[in-house]
Amino acid sequence: MADLTGKVALVTGAAKERGIGRAIALKLASLGADIVIADLCNDKSESDEMWGELNSRAKEIEALGRSALPVHVDITDEKAVADAISAIKEKFGRLDIVVNNAGAAFGMNLSFMMNPADWRKMIDINLTGTFLVSRAAAQWMVSLRNGGAIINISSWRGRYPYPFLGAYCAAKSGVIALTEVMALELASHKIRVNAVCPGKVDTDMERMAWKMKSDAFGKPVEKIIEEEIKKIPLGKIASPDTIAGVVAFLASDDGSYMTGQHIYVTGGMTLMNV
Ligand SMILES: NC(=O)c1ccc[n+]([C@@H]2O[C@H](COP(=O)([O-])OP(=O)(O)OC[C@H]3O[C@@H](n4cnc5c(N)ncnc54)[C@H](O)[C@@H]3O)[C@@H](O)[C@H]2O)c1
Repeated sequence: MADLTGKVALVTGAAKERGIGRAIALKLASLGADIVIADLCNDKSESDEMWGELNSRAKEIEALGRSALPVHVDITDEKAVADAISAIKEKFGRLDIVVNNAGAAFGMNLSFMMNPADWRKMIDINLTGTFLVSRAAAQWMVSLRNGGAIINISSWRGRYPYPFLGAYCAAKSGVIALTEVMALELASHKIRVNAVCPGKVDTDMERMAWKMKSDAFGKPVEKIIEEEIKKIPLGKIASPDTIAGVVAFLASDDGSYMTGQHIYVTGGMTLMNV
């Protein structure tokens, strides 16, 4: 089994109870890593609620016997990202694994009708945020000379387009390109950079998409889910844990000869004409 004992991992977008980030944080902790849980907690209006969500995740990590550092950060803010890295330096003095998981999908529209402000925000969160965190982390990781792994959570939509998702598809495609370029740039520093491209995962983000389809087509959400499942050869929606397992593989020595790859975790959907 993969062993991450003594490693420190930063996972962005890890605060939500039902999110992919939480599953990744818990999986890496269960393999021995200490965890930095970073999130904007954008669903939470009060700062107490934000810290409540982050602190709940920290307690879950600590219950696994690992150290946790909750960090409230907006990944689109260069200064906030720099402050987060400083906090990691102070608490742990090292960083081995970075999982760029934070992302968002909103403002869906035909690309030629889309509000430019929504476009910029989507690119900012899903692509520029990944760049800013990777940039700050990699500069430090290179100087530490310990090597490491960066794993970017893209989406199958980065290569398999869908109407109304222009900005999301463009951003996630950009994440794959950034992954490939940084893999080349960091290989000599023994830092591997890979991307994971989930398909349909049962989280708040995907539930919001089902609700939108339900409203748009006038069908109950249960019917929408039934139709979604029919498009998946393995016949089920993924759980966040399914994605976490692949991330753990890429973060550990099990994936030590892999860099610059984007791995589809879609239950076989990429084989279908969907
Ligand atoms: N759920 C799916 O089916 C699916 C499919 C493909 C890809 N993905 C990708 O997986 C990742 C996780 O998605 P999820 O389904 O768990 O979504 P989610 O909405 O449940 O969680 C996303 C997290 O990112 C955080 N976040 C958003 N903007 C941020 C910012 N500016 N700074 C810091 N944190 C921020 C949110 O607060 C939230 O905790 C995303 O990158 C998403 O695009 C999800």
